Amino acid sequence: MKSVEQLTNLENTLATLTIEHKKILSELSVLEELIQDESNYQATVVPAFKNLKNFLLPDHHKREDSILYEWMLNQNTTVDHDIIDRIRDEHHKLEVLMENINQQVGKISQASAAKDIRMLGHDLIDFIELYREHVELEEKFIFMIAKGLLSVRRRA
Ligand SMILES: [Fe+2]
Ligand SMILES: [Fe+2]
Repeated sequence: MKSVEQLTNLENTLATLTIEHKKILSELSVLEELIQDESNYQATVVPAFKNLKNFLLPDHHKREDSILYEWMLNQNTTVDHDIIDRIRDEHHKLEVLMENINQQVGKISQASAAKDIRMLGHDLIDFIELYREHVELEEKFIFMIAKGLLSVRRRA
């Protein structure tokens, strides 16, 4: 039956997203480490940031927004729309921040001025903090709500 299949897909999506969060958090920690050494951002920080961005943007955010959150919003029960709107809004803000960082990253070279390196480092630290908070909000609230909804639907 289609709806059972859909529930299984959503459960798998939720499991995948949780695994992805572990990977994201560990990459954020690696990035945080790399930022400490300002001598060679071009070879260390730049590729680490690009890898993370390439994973977050086409894959992770999309999986959340267009599969899980979309489904949650379409449930007839009292799903807290405010919290889902907030989390989607965070995606947008994080994406703008990543785009800004990406532009700075594009200009980084061996000859970059110390102040440019430092500015990039600050922006990356802000990004890392915001992203960790974002993951925490998803794990502690949104994914819990999703799990509850999925088990209600399973029993229905
Ligand atoms: Fe997210
Ligand atoms: Fe996430």
